[in-house]
Formats: sequence, C-alpha cells, structure tokens
Amino acid sequence: MSTPVKLAVIYYSSTGFSAEIAKEIAQTAETAGAEVRLLKAAELAPEAAIASNEAWAAHAAASAGIPVATPADVEWADAVIFGSPTRFGNISSQLKQFIDTLGGLWAQGKLANKVYSGFVTTATAHGGHESTLLALYNSIHHFGGLIASPGYTDTVKFVDGNPYGTSHTDAQGNNPVGEQTRNAARHQAERVVQIAAALKAGLAA
Ligand SMILES: Cc1cc2nc3c(=O)[nH]c(=O)nc-3n(C[C@H](O)[C@H](O)[C@H](O)COP(=O)(O)O)c2cc1C
Repeated sequence: MSTPVKLAVIYYSSTGFSAEIAKEIAQTAETAGAEVRLLKAAELAPEAAIASNEAWAAHAAASAGIPVATPADVEWADAVIFGSPTRFGNISSQLKQFIDTLGGLWAQGKLANKVYSGFVTTATAHGGHESTLLALYNSIHHFGGLIASPGYTDTVKFVDGNPYGTSHTDAQGNNPVGEQTRNAARHQAERVVQIAAALKAGLAA
C-alpha cells in the first residue's frame, strides 16, 4: 500500500493574507489524504517595524504557534507549496532567506524530483501576481524540482485567472481572502497532492 504524500506548506506573511491561503491549502491537502506540515518562514524584520504596524503586530501574535520551517522539512516532503506576499514584484526576503538555507540539500541533490507550487498575495491587481510566482519558480528550476502550476485545469481557474498559482489582491488590506481565492487554493492543493502521489508511486515502482 502506498504511503501518504508528505506536503510542506511554507509561507511568509506579515499581515495575514498569505497565512490565510496557506491554511486553506493545508486543510484541503489533509482532506485529500496528505500528511501536511504548515510552516512559516522565520521573521527577519526588527521588532520596532512590526510594532509600528497594527495588522503586522496582530498577525505576528496570532501566528506565534506556527512552527518555523527548517531545511529538514523540505527534505522530509514529497511536495512543497511556497507562499509569500509580493515585495516589489518579487518574493519576500523572509521566504527568500529560507530558500537560501537550502544550499546544503541542493548540493546533495535532495531538492530534486519533488513537486513544487506557489501562491502570492498583493495589494493591487497588477502589483506582481505573476512576476512574484515566476521569480519563485526560478529557484525551483535550480532545485531540479517539478512545478505543478494550476494552469487552467479546472473551471475555477477561469474565475481567478492566474495559471501560475493562487493569487489574491488584498486592496490595501481591505479585501479579505474570499471564495474566489479559496477555490483556487483548494484546486491547487488537490492538484499538487494528486501529482505528487503519482510521482511518488512512479519513483517507488
Ligand atoms: C516592502 C513592501 C513591498 C510591497 N510591494 C508590493 C508590490 O510591488 N505590489 C503590490 O501589489 N503590493 C505590494 N506590497 C503589499 C503586500 O504584498 C500585500 O499587502 C500583501 O497582500 C500582504 O500579504 P500578507 O498579509 O501575507 O503579509 C508590498 C508591501 C511591502 C511592505
């Protein structure tokens, strides 16, 4: 009998939008039969910066119980879904710093032959949904990873309209994560688990 897909959902979030998508993905993947670790990238910003922003401080407190990701979590996983708010069209420095700790695993070939995917949140509609995901995926190519992008593989993708991954526009903090984004997140989670299961079975055969 095959063992469940091990999925690591590794995200950074300042004000909670990316965290909300991460939770949706983790819950859906568990329902789909995966063993899931929901993990955050370590915070790099100074305490004073966090304290100066009410939403950031509130989310930091609310997410204190989420474990911080380590390279061992990526080694453990059959599939990894990364998530980040955009930062000038790129991923956050916190998630990038985590990715940069994976050099040791990369050198041993241990990042290859896993399934990867990504999600992003932005403040504005054209503020970096696609560029951020493509920037994330640059690193996956270097890993020798297999990118499971959602494409337009479900009708929900014609609603949210982003074939690169789940994305959400927070409208300067005024647009909570709603059904459109959640539908895209659920589809992405199910697709990653499905592809990772097929790959895992194939590699074991
Ligand atoms: C330094 C910085 C740069 C940002 N750059 C962009 C940007 O280029 N485009 C955009 O739409 N939003 C930008 N944002 C806004 C966040 O990406 C956005 O509010 C995101 O949804 C927050 O996600 P979070 O709640 O998970 O932290 C930026 C925010 C910060 C602090």
